[in-house]
Amino acid sequence: MSSVAHELRTPLTYVKGYADVASRRGISEAEREKYLTIIREEADQLTSMVRQLFQLAKMEENAFVIEPSVTHLSSLLEEVATQVEPFIEEKQAQLTIHVPDDLYVTADRTRMKQVLVNIIQNALLYGGEIPVIQVEGERTEQGVRLCISDQGPGVPDESLPHLFERLYRVDKARSREQGGSGLGLAIVKEIVEMHGGTVKAFNENGLTILIILPEEDADDTHSHRG
Ligand SMILES: Nc1ncnc2c1ncn2[C@@H]1O[C@H](COP(=O)(O)OP(=O)(O)OP(=O)(O)O)[C@@H](O)[C@H]1O
Ligand SMILES: [Mg+2]
Repeated sequence: MSSVAHELRTPLTYVKGYADVASRRGISEAEREKYLTIIREEADQLTSMVRQLFQLAKMEENAFVIEPSVTHLSSLLEEVATQVEPFIEEKQAQLTIHVPDDLYVTADRTRMKQVLVNIIQNALLYGGEIPVIQVEGERTEQGVRLCISDQGPGVPDESLPHLFERLYRVDKARSREQGGSGLGLAIVKEIVEMHGGTVKAFNENGLTILIILPEEDADDTHSHRG
């Protein structure tokens, strides 16, 4: 709780500080605009952090429910691609998706999209200058494997076990500049586990996030649809 309070205080300190500077007499319009932009960004950061904390609190109270249904993986990924498209373009990044057309999982569409968007946004933020992001799906004996990988610097090996912890960031200073609060992957893990799945991270030409979800039997799929 005290670390959460601390994390909230940091952006608040920025907001206050830059508001003071922005209201000084004699500064140029350009400078004022610059400070106001920082204030806006910090406010956005706070909003996102409060939303994430709220979601985690609901999870702790078991008040966070998922509504799973039979989900066609490749159409879900198409929706994810549409959602991240503006960010991909902004960075001139590359996103490729390879998923067999006959893969189905039982998932809460909104939540599973949230998971994938989160991981892709991390790849966009931390995956190097011009991120190259790949999403690969395949059927295995353990279930449906979904790999989201980038070709960025990855993380130090000793950080790997901690990535899914709340408020954990590899490079506090740098990720703060980039707007991270270290809650995204903690939420990802909770949501994946609620689906009966697992999630892991490893370094392989960059960072790879591996999600395994129980596969929905294709025959079941047809009977579900009647
Ligand atoms: N693709 C990646 N490449 C390198 N480092 C990564 C990657 N994804 C995550 N990380 C590291 O893991 C940390 C935790 O990620 P997480 O998504 O949980 O938090 P965040 O991105 O800092 O903040 P938030 O997602 O809550 O806005 C990041 O701060 C970053 O240091
Ligand atoms: Mg993140």
